[in-house]
Amino acid sequence: MSVASAIRRKTAPEIRARKGGEPIVMLTSYHAHTAALVDRHCDVILVGDSLGNVMHGFETTVPVTLEMMILQGRAVMRGSSHALVVVDMPFGSYEASKEQAFHSAVKIMKETQCGAVKLEGGARMAETVAFLSQRGIPVMGHIGLKPQSINALGSFRAQGREQGSWEPIENDAGAISQAGAFSVVIEAVAEPLARKITQAIAIPTIGIGASSACDGQVLVLEDMLGLSPRTPKFVRRYGNLGPAIEAAVESYAKDVRSRTFPGPEHVYGMKTKS
Ligand code: KIV
Repeated sequence: MSVASAIRRKTAPEIRARKGGEPIVMLTSYHAHTAALVDRHCDVILVGDSLGNVMHGFETTVPVTLEMMILQGRAVMRGSSHALVVVDMPFGSYEASKEQAFHSAVKIMKETQCGAVKLEGGARMAETVAFLSQRGIPVMGHIGLKPQSINALGSFRAQGREQGSWEPIENDAGAISQAGAFSVVIEAVAEPLARKITQAIAIPTIGIGASSACDGQVLVLEDMLGLSPRTPKFVRRYGNLGPAIEAAVESYAKDVRSRTFPGPEHVYGMKTKS
């Protein structure tokens, strides 16, 4: 048996084929150990540039570098074996030209061995998406709220609240789909718009704060576990690990300070002389 056939990962074409079918389950992960935990239950693991906020405490994703994405992408690949791993292209690594995007995407794919990349932008990135897709790089788009554009947007607010503002977002979705992306994340848009886009385009839509009308859902793992200091309003919590970790750390500190921390005799069964 070849190494390639020993591990069977989901592929971008398989995710593309899920349009209108069984909902796609996607979560972020940045570490080998969390990747192993989510791998069995998720179709796609996203190594999101949200690692800038979650792991590094940055206010935005703007400072995230290609090197940071590659390091965590490699960890997630080591920890998982079934899900499709998608690595985010960080701000500044793809917008200058389609050639810049190609070089950055190739570096990510060669050094992490992930199955696809994700980039933010709609119609303005369509030429780049086509360039990459035609050269063997599966691309996931990201439209609606685009966190890398925070300095131009001014705030992280929901998009397309009024029907009058829908058209550019619908055009973004159509452009990304026609350019050859295999799926598209739609972030923080109102339910009727998410539904309309999902019905209109040929590729799966993956919502985050965009309602269950999408073909799949993605959340930042630490947000849904209650581990992030600031969680977007639309995130449903499935755990509350922050307080549980703090309680465990408090017990440990108490044991150490009161000298009730178990010694090695506890483990090795050593007898102390009386
Ligand atoms: O970086 C990230 O985690 C993302 C998700 C919010 C979709 O892009």
